[in-house]
Formats: sequence, C-alpha cells, structure tokens
Amino acid sequence: MLRRVLHRLFGSKKALRNRAIVLSRRPNGEIRNGDLTLETFDVPDIEDGEILIESLWLSLDPYMRPQMNDMESYQDPILIGGVMPGEVVGRVSNSRSDKFQVGDIVTCHAGWQEYYVASGSEDGIHVVEPEGIPIQAYLGVAGMPGRTAYCGLMYLGKPVVGETVVVSAASGAVGGVVGQLAKKQGCTVVGIAGGSKKCEYVVHELGFDECINYKEGNLSAKLKAACPNGVDIYFENVGGETSKAIVPLLNEGSRVPICGFVSVYNTKSPESVETPMHIFGSMDSPPEHRFFLVSEWQDQHQEITGILADLVRSGELKYRESIAEGLENAPQAFKGMLAGKNFGKQLVHIRD
Ligand SMILES: NC(=O)c1ccc[n+]([C@@H]2O[C@H](COP(=O)([O-])OP(=O)(O)OC[C@H]3O[C@@H](n4cnc5c(N)ncnc54)[C@H](OP(=O)(O)O)[C@@H]3O)[C@@H](O)[C@H]2O)c1
Repeated sequence: MLRRVLHRLFGSKKALRNRAIVLSRRPNGEIRNGDLTLETFDVPDIEDGEILIESLWLSLDPYMRPQMNDMESYQDPILIGGVMPGEVVGRVSNSRSDKFQVGDIVTCHAGWQEYYVASGSEDGIHVVEPEGIPIQAYLGVAGMPGRTAYCGLMYLGKPVVGETVVVSAASGAVGGVVGQLAKKQGCTVVGIAGGSKKCEYVVHELGFDECINYKEGNLSAKLKAACPNGVDIYFENVGGETSKAIVPLLNEGSRVPICGFVSVYNTKSPESVETPMHIFGSMDSPPEHRFFLVSEWQDQHQEITGILADLVRSGELKYRESIAEGLENAPQAFKGMLAGKNFGKQLVHIRD
C-alpha cells in the first residue's frame, strides 16, 4: 500500500541493469571456468556531456588473452575484477552530449558489457555508416582487423607486383583481408590455415593462389613447393613452428610485418616465449621485420575504414563471421577462437 502511494507521488524509477564479463582470476595457460565471470550491476544515470551506449555486437580479439596476464607489455594488464576490454558496435540510447544523437550507431571501446556510459568527448567513439554494409562488419573486415591487415601489408609489407606473399591464420579476420589486398596488388598469395575447410574457403572464396593446412604436417616441404620463387613478404599472425618453416624461404630484401603470434598466447610462461622477433632477428641475414600496432596509423582510422567499407559494399572484399549468441557465451567463444574453432571474425551478438 505504502509503496503504491509513494509510486503515485514520486513515480517509480527502476535502474537499468547491466551485465558484464569480468576477469575474476588470471588464467594459468588455457582459460578455465571461473577465470571470466558474468556480473550484474546498475547502469548509472548519465551526466551532462555523457552518452549511454547499448551494445549490439562485441568483437573478440586474440590480443585480449595476453592482456589477462600479469605482465607489462604494450598494453596494461586487465585488473582483477575489471570488465574485459573490447570494441563493440552499439546504439546511443541516451545522450546529454552535443556530439551524439539518440539512435547513432557507433563503434567504441565499451568492453564485454551490455551498457556503457561514456563521455561524449572520449577518444575512439566513431559513428558508422550502416548504408549497404552490416554494422558488425565495422568490428571485422571494415574495422580494427581490416585496418590492421591494410596497414601491416601496405606500409610494412610494401607489396610489389609479382612478389610472393605468405600469410598465416589465413581464413581469420586479419589474414583473410591481407591475402585479398595482396592479390589486388598483383602478388602471388599463399595462405596457411588449420583445416581443409578453411583452406578451401581461402582459395575458392577469397581467391588466394594456394593454402596449406598446417595441421596435416610437412609444412616446410609444402611451403617450399608452393613458393618456388621464395617468399618476399611473410605476414606473421601465429609465430612458433610456422615462423620457423618460413625462415629458409625468405628472399633477400624480404619483409616480415609481425602482427601477432597467437600460437603462444595461452602459454603458461609468457616471459620466456620465443617470439617471431627472436626467430627472424636471429637469422644470419634477417628480413626487414618488426612488430607493429594498428594504432600507429590512428590518424588514418576514418580514411582506411572508408576504403575497406567501400570494398565490402562493392563485393571486392569477402569475409566470414563466427557468431556467438548472448554475452554469457562470450567466454566460451573466446576460448574457442584461441584454439582455432572460429571460422572468420569472431563476434558476439548481444541485441538487434
Ligand atoms: N598488431 C595489431 O595491431 C593487431 C591487431 C589485430 C590482430 N592482431 C593479431 O593478428 C592475429 C590474427 O588475429 P585475428 O583477429 O585475425 O584472429 P583470427 O585469425 O580470426 O583467429 C585466430 C586464429 O588463430 C589461429 N591459431 C590459433 N592457434 C594457433 C596455433 N597454435 N597455430 C597456428 N594458428 C593458430 C586459428 O586459425 P587456424 O584454424 O587457421 O589455426 C584461429 O582461428 C593475432 O595474432 C592477433 O593478435 C594484431
């Protein structure tokens, strides 16, 4: 009765509830149940200058795994109890900022959660152009992985017509774009991927010249046969045995953009990992090689996003997605991606 009277007098304002995946414990090797947990809490009211974003799609990316370790690298470690970081495509559902309107579709670094309160002046919030392209493509082929492929290949790989380019994790979000762009530059492109279905897709859908299934063994011999003129550009995504198989094939003047080394991200001793920088750096005559971050070309974010989105609209850039349904399934999908269970860009669909 009292509650009904109070309700009539003041109205009832039920706080929005947020669900988030937090890092509860640092993994020791592979992610175990309990490392990542689902937490629920109230969404705060927005203040002047702020916006409320509801997540529609979440991107899962390999870089998140090393960030779960208690080790300094180019990114600070995620704090225990902290929301997992990550990029989403979201909808502005409330705005007290001049910069954003309710209904704007944006990409932003909201993390693994359903709602995000941001300052309207926060770096890295971009309104996307949904015309003629699925909005989630701004997390993949026309998003961070696509820009990574573009910058690593074009600025560090520097492809020349007739050269041979090898790319690992070839069916993935970055690798698939690297190979297609290299073909457009007039190169011969050889992919490396885990499984015959992935290799068929890489050749028949993405248009690579060849693709080697590293899980079948004999990688060195198969690479040698696929690259009779040696390798001019090796786009490094995985590290480990794959890098070692590339070493004897690198031509004089070759370039190795080191994008990542996912094969060792689950290691129990990250501090003693043999990285591609060690492997290529210790060659008698090392190729031009260095680890790079897509953020080095942050000033070209919008321009390159536009180029990639146009290539998707015209059908020149093809891609695949692996979609997990619901935020609660993000940890399992993430674990699967690190084991190669994804086929194309790994996403989590949160709401329509
Ligand atoms: N430097 C940057 O700014 C930047 C930005 C984005 C991404 N990256 C890096 O780019 C790489 C690819 O990322 P992505 O987002 O495109 O992921 P992705 O390729 O879509 O997914 C990861 C893939 O890694 C492969 N993989 C997993 N374990 C492996 C192993 N032991 N040996 C060989 N391959 C293995 C799997 O493909 P298979 O089934 O084919 O093995 C898996 O599908 C990662 O190293 C990531 O860290 C770097």
